[in-house]
Amino acid sequence: MAHQWIFSLIVLSCALYSMGVDKNNFKTCDQSSFCRRLRAVKPGESKYEIDLDSLQVTDNSVDAKLLNTEAGVLFKFSLTAINGNIFRIQVDEASPLYQRYRPQFALNGEPQVSKLEVLERSKDSVSITYNKNKVIIHARPLKIEFFENGELVSVVNGRGLFTFEHYRKKQEQTNEEGQENQVAEDPGAWEENFKSHHDSKPKGPSAIGLDVSFPGALRVYGLPEHADRLALKTTGPGGVDPYRLYNLDVFEYELDSTMAIYGAIPVVYAHSPKRTVGVFWHNAAETWVDINNSKDGNVMASIVNLVSGSKSENNVDAHFMSESGIVDLFVLMGPTPKDAIKQYASLTGVHPLPQYFTLAYHQCRWNYNDEDDVTSVVQNFDISDMPVDIMWLDIEYTNGKKYFTWDPVKFPHPDVMIQNLTATGRKLVIIIDPHIKRESGYFVHEDSLSNDYYVKNKDGTVYEGWCWPGSSSYLDFYKPETVEYYKDLYSLENFKGTTHDVNFWNDMNEPSVFNGPEITMPKDCIHHGGWEHRDVHNEYPLAHTYATFQGLINRSPNKRPFILTRGHFSGSQRYTAMWTGDNAAEWSHLAVSYPMCLSEAIGGISFCGADIGGFFNNPDIELLQRWYQAAVWLPFFRAHAHIDTRRREPYLFADDVKNRIRNALRLRYAHLPLWYTLFWQHEITGEPVIRPLFYHYPTDENVLDIDNEVLVGNTVLARVISDPGVSSINVYLPGGANEYWYDIEDFRLYHGTGNYNIPVSLDKSLAFYRGGSIIPRKDRPRRSSSLMHNDPFTLYIALDSNQQASGYLYIDDAESFEYKNKKYLYVRFTFEDNTLKSELVDKTDYPTKEWIERLVILGPPKGVKSAKLVSKSLGSVELDAAYSNEDRILVVRKPGVSIREKFTVKLYF
Ligand SMILES: *[C@@H]1O[C@H](CO)[C@@H](O)[C@H](O)[C@H]1NC(C)=O
Ligand SMILES: *[C@@H]1O[C@H](CO)[C@@H](O)[C@H](O)[C@H]1NC(C)=O
Repeated sequence: MAHQWIFSLIVLSCALYSMGVDKNNFKTCDQSSFCRRLRAVKPGESKYEIDLDSLQVTDNSVDAKLLNTEAGVLFKFSLTAINGNIFRIQVDEASPLYQRYRPQFALNGEPQVSKLEVLERSKDSVSITYNKNKVIIHARPLKIEFFENGELVSVVNGRGLFTFEHYRKKQEQTNEEGQENQVAEDPGAWEENFKSHHDSKPKGPSAIGLDVSFPGALRVYGLPEHADRLALKTTGPGGVDPYRLYNLDVFEYELDSTMAIYGAIPVVYAHSPKRTVGVFWHNAAETWVDINNSKDGNVMASIVNLVSGSKSENNVDAHFMSESGIVDLFVLMGPTPKDAIKQYASLTGVHPLPQYFTLAYHQCRWNYNDEDDVTSVVQNFDISDMPVDIMWLDIEYTNGKKYFTWDPVKFPHPDVMIQNLTATGRKLVIIIDPHIKRESGYFVHEDSLSNDYYVKNKDGTVYEGWCWPGSSSYLDFYKPETVEYYKDLYSLENFKGTTHDVNFWNDMNEPSVFNGPEITMPKDCIHHGGWEHRDVHNEYPLAHTYATFQGLINRSPNKRPFILTRGHFSGSQRYTAMWTGDNAAEWSHLAVSYPMCLSEAIGGISFCGADIGGFFNNPDIELLQRWYQAAVWLPFFRAHAHIDTRRREPYLFADDVKNRIRNALRLRYAHLPLWYTLFWQHEITGEPVIRPLFYHYPTDENVLDIDNEVLVGNTVLARVISDPGVSSINVYLPGGANEYWYDIEDFRLYHGTGNYNIPVSLDKSLAFYRGGSIIPRKDRPRRSSSLMHNDPFTLYIALDSNQQASGYLYIDDAESFEYKNKKYLYVRFTFEDNTLKSELVDKTDYPTKEWIERLVILGPPKGVKSAKLVSKSLGSVELDAAYSNEDRILVVRKPGVSIREKFTVKLYF
């Protein structure tokens, strides 16, 4: 939530009736002096050379001196083999005047090195091998080639754009550079408007840049967060601005844009039907990335190919440019999308299994006015027979925007209100932002001032900016004492009124500063350790949520914390869910929710969602319904709305609308066991919870640009309906004639042979089960997910072309860490030879009362008369089996067996 009153005023006064981002607030590459400098580096001979005489080889790494031949400056170069077919290249200054920043939070521990071997050394190069991978380091000029199974898959500095601006002593800073700075600080319109004098660089230019090519790649994906398509587009001077990674609070962000928004994840995956290779640019400073995909809408390249008649292989280039820090590049060798994405997860971690309820429906609004409002919203859900699990409170619950306090008039009895909620199995999430109101007597401010917990100006005074409370200062989460203090603020003793059932929303943590340059903190602010904000900017929200996470672990040691963040960086998945921020009630924003969350998912952040209905403005009723139907298939499922919008809780509408939204909510609740199982598997394997089509169908060229469909695990394919008034929709179903897809509402069978035009009434949403899957569902409607814990399962058995299927179900206590002590069940179901079998995958147990109520077999064999269950405790039991839905399904009733027990159910003809 970040309606910025300042910008409302600007927008109102500048363009009375127009909506949308005010681009004058945000830099283009041309307005960023380092982006302009690095983009001006011309391809060609690199001036950087490896000194092969200095080469040192250990079991895991190759180290050498790297020389900038023009400036005569020395660098340290190292290439390391990392477990799981990853290489790491690091370059830092050999004798730096100032230390350069290395991100502290992104990696999930120090990456484990692996053994490499030197294959060959010549006077010009050295080649090394590691598993099926080979690397050739060319010395003069620097160029590094990566081969997988003998094929060239990636080249670093192939275009010679490698740049490492070294720090210089004042007197060494040349005339030439001075001039450059003059140009950089030339007060253009942008600077004039927003007084970005804070943006100067006291230590001098320190940018780094690097190009990476991917021969043969057809598409490149990644670089969240952008409000853009999944496949990255070609950028370049004179054309589209580079993808910018700089966490920013962008009011009314625009779509199809490479502009930076709230999150920054510098990973890309280059993909072709043959292979997938990724690179992770481990840097927390402002970063721009130019992409050149020579076959992607690049008219010039197509014309050249046409004229010359050449059928040269495609090539994708990425050019990374960061304002400071070191070069720390991980090359993820793939070779499949699954491999490359898991390699990234092995470096930056996974989202730990969340509490079960967090996957259910969240109801949010800026703001629920008071305690009665909260109580009555939940009562209305109950009256309308619609499930809801979590009520959210935005900033107005606080006493004057002072976090860790309650408004004494509107929320005088938070403990009673929370008790009311939890009595019906509901939970509460409340907002806590990182800015602190500068008000004397406010304990957080007083403590932070007297103990020095705030971020500083460059002159050492406490930094002050404007945010919701007015004048604010910002906690410095790089200081261990600040983190210790902040953790304690979340304790039940300190935050009176809260309970173990209260979780938290960390918003505005880019950080958002209404009067700061580009609505954020000036780059020359100083953090603990002497780091400039410039160095750590993209990592700041991760440092913030890390502290919150530790606070919640301390507060409730046996409850898995739930935190929602807006700002995020590589590694944020270890602590938080995220959402796509302040979207709008427009069809295009519904559409972009799928590619945005898919991009986050391959960027390591599976727990993603978009505000249902759109945050700004009022959705029409059709849009609202379509939004609920589509959001069922994104991991984070929350409705939210701006304070100026009309109330839109789903019970407020006419019966037909209520019915459709109720159906969507119930569909989500029915699939909670699937979501939960997928999150467990995500924690164990690093596989994303939702996946783009190319993840499971990497050799299908038709899916390269499909981002209006998501795969939920490898089980469900959902297609967003993001146009008004449609009576039919095109759906691409992948996998070929032998891949079966069943419409999950009418159980119609489709083959994976491509495009289908499917009729859609307003009642109809588009989701399909993949033939070959077994999906555990809970089909009894309840008011909240916690009331479903003992409900029985229905297994949906979607048969493939061989009349087989398999699937998993994960169960535990839904909230604690006891699953780490083997207190869980992980069940595998298989169906073959007309027999369903269950077995425990791991030797674990969890004393659940859950049982199997029904089997629904999709695409069943013909002529089944009955079924027989066999289990140890029940012996042999005859079961009813009956066809329905025009014989598209066979329903086997009441197996009645406990989910803890091994069993078989055999069909009889
Ligand atoms: C992209 O690459 C192609 C082929 O190498 C080249 O001709 C073109 O100039 C590049 N475009 C940009 C914008 O750099
Ligand atoms: C709690 O619920 C009761 C019964 O519905 C209601 O009367 C009371 O106002 C609620 N209290 C709060 C603080 O929400």
